[in-house]
Amino acid sequence: MTTPKKTYHDYVIKDGKFIGKFEDMYRHFEDPWMQSQQPNRYSRQVAIMNMKRYGIRSVVEYGCGLGYYADWIHRETGIVCQSIDISKTAIKKAKAKFPHLDFHVGNIRDMGSLKNKAHIDCILLADITWMILQDLDYVNTELLKHFRGKYLINNFVTYKGTQKYGLDFFTTTQEYIDYMPFKLIGYAEGTTIDDHNIDSTTIFKIEPKQV
Ligand SMILES: C[S@@+](CC[C@H](N)C(=O)[O-])C[C@H]1O[C@@H](n2cnc3c(N)ncnc32)[C@H](O)[C@@H]1O
Repeated sequence: MTTPKKTYHDYVIKDGKFIGKFEDMYRHFEDPWMQSQQPNRYSRQVAIMNMKRYGIRSVVEYGCGLGYYADWIHRETGIVCQSIDISKTAIKKAKAKFPHLDFHVGNIRDMGSLKNKAHIDCILLADITWMILQDLDYVNTELLKHFRGKYLINNFVTYKGTQKYGLDFFTTTQEYIDYMPFKLIGYAEGTTIDDHNIDSTTIFKIEPKQV
């Protein structure tokens, strides 16, 4: 019997279990999540609209991967995000593709060590939520500690009845909003009949929400 060929998912979340071998994955796969095509366009576009609407000019982006969204944001707003990813291979490739942008290796857990925190308007997470789920409470505590009063924009997808991982956290955008401890400013969702997921963006003010 032949073993089925590995896909990039095998390095991330497999059979409902978190694997998290991002560096290995980027060494083996050129374009995981079809990043070069930037799927999940509803959330990405609305998040850019929100950056313009709320006067956001300086952005730290965690989980930037190969840098395509940072480039899209730059083309539409002129913002050069400080874009950070845990994989050094991803960052090397992003730097080669988009030399006019700003990429660094780093872990979202270490946001406290960022320089010039006072000058940052917004923390952006684009399709990294499921990958940092076990750290989410810690990340939220750090956000409040270091970026109180700033914006948090999060783009991520939920699944139409096929979710296997993180069921004890949230399964819909509304459950995610309820889970988060920050003041909601706005959200949007988009999907098509053919899509197996629902693409969402949320924007929060990083301050405790009133309950
Ligand atoms: C689904 S990809 C999204 C890439 C890019 N944001 C996009 O949407 O095109 C998630 C990215 O998060 C990165 N990542 C995972 N855990 C991380 C962490 N703790 N800190 C920083 N980046 C992380 C992975 O290496 C991967 O590149």
